[in-house]
Amino acid sequence: MDKKNIFLFLIILSISCLAGPLMLSASDEVSHGGDIIYDKPVKAVLFSHKVHAEDLGMGCDSCHDGIFQMASLTVQKEADFTMEGLSKGKYCGACHDGSMAFDSDSQCARCHIGVKGYDRAQGIKSGE
Ligand code: HEC
Ligand code: HEC
Ligand code: HEC
Repeated sequence: MDKKNIFLFLIILSISCLAGPLMLSASDEVSHGGDIIYDKPVKAVLFSHKVHAEDLGMGCDSCHDGIFQMASLTVQKEADFTMEGLSKGKYCGACHDGSMAFDSDSQCARCHIGVKGYDRAQGIKSGE
């Protein structure tokens, strides 16, 4: 290698050393299911992967080993994906039972972002 090529080689090497970890952490951020907004039977309920998996640090298995599939909006096809189902300990109610996490029979607005919240999340301006 002549001087010029060595210089180039070093530049490429340092770029890939810097970019490697950066790219890894960028893909880490999208390595879960993001925000999921349910619209059936009512509009709208927000589930945040960021809150549960990142901020609270819950492992994927705590939900994806039986409670939820890794495919968004699958569960809302179930007839008992309702407040009654939740209060029987299903779905979100497996944890939101008033001891592991706040009861699904309380603080409605923490899960229910409503029609306005839904429109905002979809980037729809609410009609005046
Ligand atoms: C507290 C519960 C919970 C935890 C923890 C959790 N998830 Fe999820 N995940 C869900 C729910 C709820 C859905 C949507 C299921 C449905 O709507 O039927 C989902 C859906 C997904 C999807 C599908 C997204 C899509 O757009 O189809 C992927 C991928 C996913 N999760 C990956 C992960 C990974 C990876 C982790 C761990 C880093 C993780 N999840 C942790 C609850 C959780
Ligand atoms: C495996 C357990 C688990 C499941 C399943 C689960 N959560 Fe949670 N969730 C938690 C815990 C733990 C917290 C934090 C403790 C608390 O706020 O009481 C939390 C917090 C939340 C919060 C508060 C977020 C904030 O920013 O303060 C919302 C909203 C929420 N969950 C909605 C849901 C919805 C909707 C579902 C079902 C689609 C769900 N969760 C399923 C464990 C769970
Ligand atoms: C832990 C999250 C959570 C909390 C807290 C919560 N809900 Fe829900 N709720 C859901 C989910 C999930 C569904 C089903 C998905 C949908 O309808 O979008 C639902 C559906 C509903 C429905 C339609 C289905 C049914 O059961 O009739 C009503 C009405 C409702 N919730 C009322 C309430 C009221 C009132 C409160 C407060 C006392 C409340 N919810 C608190 C998550 C929650």
